[in-house]
Amino acid sequence: MTHAAVAQDEQFAARAEGVVKTYGSGDTVVHALRGVSIGFQTGEFTAIMGPSGSGKSTLMHCLAGLDTATEGTVRIGSVELAGLSDKEMTKLRRDRIGFVFQAFNLVPTLTAEENITLPQGIAGRDVDREWFDTVIGRLGIKDRLSHRPSELSGGQQQRVACARALVGRPDIIFGDEPTGNLDSRSSGEVLDILRAATDEFGQTVVIVTHDPRAAAYADRVVFLADGALVRELRRPTADDVFEVMKHLDDAAPGSATTGQQ
Ligand SMILES: Nc1ncnc2c1ncn2[C@@H]1O[C@H](COP(=O)(O)OP(=O)(O)OP(=O)(O)O)[C@@H](O)[C@H]1O
Ligand SMILES: [Mg+2]
Repeated sequence: MTHAAVAQDEQFAARAEGVVKTYGSGDTVVHALRGVSIGFQTGEFTAIMGPSGSGKSTLMHCLAGLDTATEGTVRIGSVELAGLSDKEMTKLRRDRIGFVFQAFNLVPTLTAEENITLPQGIAGRDVDREWFDTVIGRLGIKDRLSHRPSELSGGQQQRVACARALVGRPDIIFGDEPTGNLDSRSSGEVLDILRAATDEFGQTVVIVTHDPRAAAYADRVVFLADGALVRELRRPTADDVFEVMKHLDDAAPGSATTGQQ
């Protein structure tokens, strides 16, 4: 690799090149991603939008190493995921990636606090108590720390999952509809802290959202339609995002031939 190529890699916290994801085969084949190339610059906040079934979660799962691309390459920093053993993949996810997915995966028998600090414990790292206090304070879950997930509302569980992703200060945080179950105030709290993760700590944030107001927190909004990237906006307002969403179906490359809603 040339010197210039190395420098370019480091500029991106995550990068997909020519990523194709196909499920099934023959008559039942689904082309979830049709060759997606995108880089996520270090310290930048990106929102991925697009109609239901357009491939947003699939792209997110491939980027985060939770699923493998059928074709193409994915890198986290300069590490290409396809070259990793299961053990190396687990370590990379644990050390460098934070997840806020809709199925929160909180451990039911542990309290909120234990859930938040669990990944740090598994990695054998100390929890930065000051940062922990900041995160739970900003997310408004300070007085819920001793509760188990079943004793929390859906939105509170989602904020606990968000705190868990943030507390270890991973290089990159992936959120699949992290504000999907939240009222506008709690949504704002989650988005503010993701914004702070980029602005104050240089972390990289990538979220999927259907909400133009959530997307307006991002530096960049990219639109997927039928498995392909079709538009990109820089620092848009919610109205800018809404305008593009209205016309997205026209932009889908295979929209006339697919029945995906
Ligand atoms: N495991 C799977 N097996 C078969 N098809 C799948 C699988 N996972 C996803 N798909 C299909 O791939 C396409 C993209 O799905 P994906 O979940 O990425 O969409 P999405 O953009 O996240 O949608 P939503 O907004 O509804 O969450 C869809 O047509 C979906 O039915
Ligand atoms: Mg999805």
